[in-house]
Amino acid sequence: MKALLDKGNQAVDELAKYVKDRYYPAYHIAAKAGWINDPNGLVYFNGKYHAFFQHYPYDENWGPMHWGHVVSDDMVHWQHLPIALAPSEDYDKDGCFSGSAVDDNGTLALIYTGHVWLKEAGDDSAVREVQCLAISHDGIHFEKQGVVLTPPDGIMHFRDPKVWKQDGRWFMVVGARDANDVGQVRLYSSADLRQWQFEQILAQTDDPDVYMMECPDFFPLGDSYILMFSPQGMKAKGYQYRNRFQSGYLVGKWQAGSEFKITHQFAEFDHGHDFYAPQSFEAADGRRILISWMDMWESAMPSKADKWAGVLSLPRETILTKDGKVILRPIKELESLRKDEKKLTNLYLTKTQQNLELCALQSELMVNIDLTRTTAERAGLKLAASADGQQAAWLYIDNQANRLVLDRTLAGEGVAGYRSIPLPQGNTLKLHIFVDHSSVEVFINDGEYSFSSRIYPTNNDRTIYLFAENGDLLVNDIEYWAL
Ligand code: FRU
Repeated sequence: MKALLDKGNQAVDELAKYVKDRYYPAYHIAAKAGWINDPNGLVYFNGKYHAFFQHYPYDENWGPMHWGHVVSDDMVHWQHLPIALAPSEDYDKDGCFSGSAVDDNGTLALIYTGHVWLKEAGDDSAVREVQCLAISHDGIHFEKQGVVLTPPDGIMHFRDPKVWKQDGRWFMVVGARDANDVGQVRLYSSADLRQWQFEQILAQTDDPDVYMMECPDFFPLGDSYILMFSPQGMKAKGYQYRNRFQSGYLVGKWQAGSEFKITHQFAEFDHGHDFYAPQSFEAADGRRILISWMDMWESAMPSKADKWAGVLSLPRETILTKDGKVILRPIKELESLRKDEKKLTNLYLTKTQQNLELCALQSELMVNIDLTRTTAERAGLKLAASADGQQAAWLYIDNQANRLVLDRTLAGEGVAGYRSIPLPQGNTLKLHIFVDHSSVEVFINDGEYSFSSRIYPTNNDRTIYLFAENGDLLVNDIEYWAL
């Protein structure tokens, strides 16, 4: 594999010469150049945070998957390391697909899916997928150990192993598509990461449209277990499930050896345009953190013109509420990025717009809006706006529909459409917003909801506007930081 890794690393460095600053993130994980999708193998190992990701180093499009690799002390500042895995063996020759990482007594073990196209590349009707192991003693260089788990008869789509240790035994969930094209999550266990035994089908969809559950993850949170996965095939329903594929979770009760008893049905994690294949890991202090791919299959990706595509979301802390909802909050470590603090108070607008003249290329905002005195038909913020306000991502209250909307129709090249959530109850609306060169992440009322969407404004000289149409907007205060 070494020669292939060297070749991949050289290819990325060559492509990186074409990467421009305009869309490239300042504080999100991205490849130096080339393509990325899912986060893989998120793990705290030997005092450092490691994140791997699905990566194609030879150009800006998806191709035979490698594992890219970054490392961090704080989950905020990431450093690129050499590519960790390249397809090289019969069993993974068309891709080292998604998987996970564990600390096996000081050895860093990657468990990933070896993917092979049986007809032609891209033809999903005939594939072979098996789970494979690779290990490293220094956390940088990996040696493949071969196949550790093959699918049962009748199953071809069998991928994205997530492994964890519990009560001295290893467990693994794997996403699958059964012989009748029904999506399921299968559970296995092992004493040594090498021999795996089938335990149970942890969950199987009852939605007749869902044919596959990709990227499962299973972990305790509060007094429950969360089973998260990315279902393929779910149809849009009103304001919900509007992306190409979704990602969400079930809440339930479980202990080894017994069935998973669902207490709360499927809910989406995020309500923006770009949030897929999230994975979780445990931080050094026990917080359960989640990171996703902040893109969507088949979306426009104008950064491809600069020879790269794909970013990962900000790390988010997961919290389970009493009513069985997983809320996501940006991790507190992100505060270390803050510069140039500004505070604006009591901004009152009536049927007008105001340029706040805040440099918004890479910034964080906390905005408190008084809903009792916001009467405008539409009122809110234009983020990443051009100086004349013509180009922007609109984040606004729709007082007629009683919803909060993120509309990226005017947010630059290739993107369109809006997403919305019910306007939360209460008198104050709290918006916590992160803007990077080509993304917006909005956390609403301390993580009750979030929107994550990519934007591609063509203007790098970006500001923030407030606006109110046909009525008033009262903003109690705005805290702002350049990042
Ligand atoms: C999810 C996914 C996984 C697969 C990987 C391939 O986005 O389709 O199921 O392992 O991407 O890159």
